[in-house]
Amino acid sequence: MSAETTPVLQVEGLAKTFRVGLLGRPVEAVRGISFRLEPGRVLGYLGPNGSGKTTSIKCMLGLIQPTAGKIAFFGRPHSDPLARARIGYMPEHPYFYDYLKPPEVLDYVGRLYGIPAEIRRKRSHELLERLGLGHAMDRTLRGFSKGMLQRVGIAQSLISDPDLVVYDEPLSGLDPIGRKELRDLMAELRAEGKALFVTSHVLSDIESFCDEVVILRKGVAVAQGRLEDLLRRDRLESSATLALPADAAADLGAQLATACGGSVTAEKDGKVTVQLPSDAVGALSAAAAELGATLVELHPVKDTLEELFVRQALAIDDAKEAR
Ligand SMILES: Nc1ncnc2c1ncn2[C@@H]1O[C@H](COP(=O)(O)OP(=O)(O)OP(=O)(O)O)[C@@H](O)[C@H]1O
Ligand SMILES: [Mg+2]
Repeated sequence: MSAETTPVLQVEGLAKTFRVGLLGRPVEAVRGISFRLEPGRVLGYLGPNGSGKTTSIKCMLGLIQPTAGKIAFFGRPHSDPLARARIGYMPEHPYFYDYLKPPEVLDYVGRLYGIPAEIRRKRSHELLERLGLGHAMDRTLRGFSKGMLQRVGIAQSLISDPDLVVYDEPLSGLDPIGRKELRDLMAELRAEGKALFVTSHVLSDIESFCDEVVILRKGVAVAQGRLEDLLRRDRLESSATLALPADAAADLGAQLATACGGSVTAEKDGKVTVQLPSDAVGALSAAAAELGATLVELHPVKDTLEELFVRQALAIDDAKEAR
């Protein structure tokens, strides 16, 4: 990506403090977050409940006033209507009047965007078909399931053919098939060149199609960047299983692990499994040759986003306890 590309979204030092109760006790929901999202990329905005995801989105979209920070869409201030017109949004709990039918919802939203009637009609029909709601065009939303309402929410977010979509927990409350279908749809939107900003507290849900992530905890970004870089930053681990010689000393497994800076994760039936930094596999095989053990299996241990997330959370708790 060239340095001159105008980011779809750029956030600098975003902070939001709510005042609650009669005494105006401060709740620091977001505490100085910065990131940028390039065209056609997917940013996963992740964090446990209450970490500040929805608050950040509300600030970005101008639904609440940030306490501090700068937000720009397509190089324009976030309040600029020209920038807003290029964004589609689905809130955390989409709410629709339940006496409306799906095409009526889309028509209403399309009118807000100033889309001519003919195009509105055509697009809403296409979108509802694409989202598997073709059979429900003539039904009011009253009888719709959670998954169907979520699809209406996605459809209305696309009526303006936006360059950026902002989805707050789009997969929550969906069954596994619904989740898969929505994930596929988001991957399609990305393939069409749209940028996506997607929040989730279920990391594995969006891990597969995010280019970058910001991981929040208590309003602070505890990790951010390209997913690949984050998952590699610590160290890549491998798992090696070795067959021990029949007359092996009782501590041979431990000796092998020590020789490569790893640790024994299992030992039985004359075999030991060692988890070690991937760049120490050479040291392990040298030690094995010397001590009469044979390497019988080796595979990488994939670090998942879930593990990264938990590790970050634990690191912060540890640091707090140490203070
Ligand atoms: N209007 C408000 N007034 C006071 N506090 C608020 C308000 N909105 C959010 N908060 C607080 O800000 C913090 C962040 O909330 P937010 O809704 O942004 O979290 P979230 O990451 O979206 O969580 P979830 O995964 O549950 O949706 C929480 O402590 C919440 O209680
Ligand atoms: Mg939320």
